[in-house]
Amino acid sequence: MKLLVVGGGGREHALAWKLKQSRMVTELFCAPGNGGTEGIATSVPISADRIKALKAWARQNRIDFTVVGPEAPLASGIVNEFRAAGLKIFGVNKSAARLESSKVFSKKLLQKYGIPTAKAEVFTDFDKASDYLKNTSYPIVIKADGLAAGKGVYICQDFKEAQKALKVCLGNPVLGQAGSSVVIEQYLEGEELSYIGLVDGQIFLPLAPSQDHKRIFEGDRGPNTGGMGAYSPVPWFDASWEERLTGEIIAPLLKGLVQEDIHYRGVLYIGLMISQGQPYVLEFNVRFGDPEIQAILFRLKSDLLPLLMATAQGRLANINRHAIEWDPRPAVCVVMASQGYPDHYEKGFVVEGLNGSEAQDWVVFHAGTMLDKGKIRTAGGRVLSVVARGSNYEEAIRTAYRGVSTLNWQGAYFRKDIGYRVCQKQK
Ligand code: AMP
Ligand code: GLY
Repeated sequence: MKLLVVGGGGREHALAWKLKQSRMVTELFCAPGNGGTEGIATSVPISADRIKALKAWARQNRIDFTVVGPEAPLASGIVNEFRAAGLKIFGVNKSAARLESSKVFSKKLLQKYGIPTAKAEVFTDFDKASDYLKNTSYPIVIKADGLAAGKGVYICQDFKEAQKALKVCLGNPVLGQAGSSVVIEQYLEGEELSYIGLVDGQIFLPLAPSQDHKRIFEGDRGPNTGGMGAYSPVPWFDASWEERLTGEIIAPLLKGLVQEDIHYRGVLYIGLMISQGQPYVLEFNVRFGDPEIQAILFRLKSDLLPLLMATAQGRLANINRHAIEWDPRPAVCVVMASQGYPDHYEKGFVVEGLNGSEAQDWVVFHAGTMLDKGKIRTAGGRVLSVVARGSNYEEAIRTAYRGVSTLNWQGAYFRKDIGYRVCQKQK
């Protein structure tokens, strides 16, 4: 089969790496890919948001199956376009992508179907929202409605901060559509979990549970990022947790999607906060979490492609979940970023140490890199990550950092405490 992976981040490198191992794949392409996918796939110089160009290219090159990584093309309807052209594709359609592309939409869906989530109000009027903020308790969370590339969520400690966030979110031309409504919601304290699975319209097939580290600085301080590291599995997550999430969240959600006439086929990423023993949905994403999926795929022994195809074709009932093989050893992913990320950073530095130093127990996945005259240069905020496994979390963490120590460029930044929570808990 000829396969196309759309996107160019760490998630897409990990997907390409895993899909390349499938016996069913004869040719692999990435659009646009990155400096890491160059080594395993043919790069197609079309960015992920150029849906019509991608469709034309896929048709011309007789691509058998396309796998979409990022949310933006899904929200813009890449799946609708491809399907209308008779092209097979993995990902949710435009209507289903609203679960991620509109915080207002997903909050209303959660409320309507009685799924536990933070209490929230929706505002479109600045003055009304501001009045509400005068009389509420703090901290409080303000979320811009639309896709805002990780910049649309503000945790505010007092009215002054909230007023500032409101100004950014509501009616701000910088955020465009993202700024026309806000969700103001109760702040929840607890532990986050990324629960990622495949949905074929009827069935939710969970992948391994994972946790990421969203903040830029050690000890989970500083601004939110796309994710600075992750691990899978999650030691406390057992069968009884899975049963609870199925009953309290997944079953009502799948029923709600059918009732709302949303044909959901693709990834469902449930971002959860476990607060005082109760799981609350913080957000839905309609694509694999990054970096979580890097750790998850490093543990998946079975072929990924049949799972993605079964999802796209509504055939998950034919997949025997217990036949999917996982490496029981934990995997830990440490992200290396450009100095200054998630704010301003410079690009173009040569990455050193990439000459096949990977070993059996660790790999490097590229995110913001590019190949330039035989050299890999930095080309984004999150540059690359090292994913490692070990017989326990400590060993996986040690191996990941050993990998990190072999890589360098001017201003490389990484958190030194990835996985600290699991280690603390196990002590
Ligand atoms: P979201 O994109 O909605 O997941 O928000 C990004 C991050 O903000 C989450 O991963 C949490 O760390 C934090 N967050 C979002 N909503 C809440 C909330 N209600 N209470 C506490 N933290 C939150
Ligand atoms: N790592 C969080 C996300 O992918 O949204």
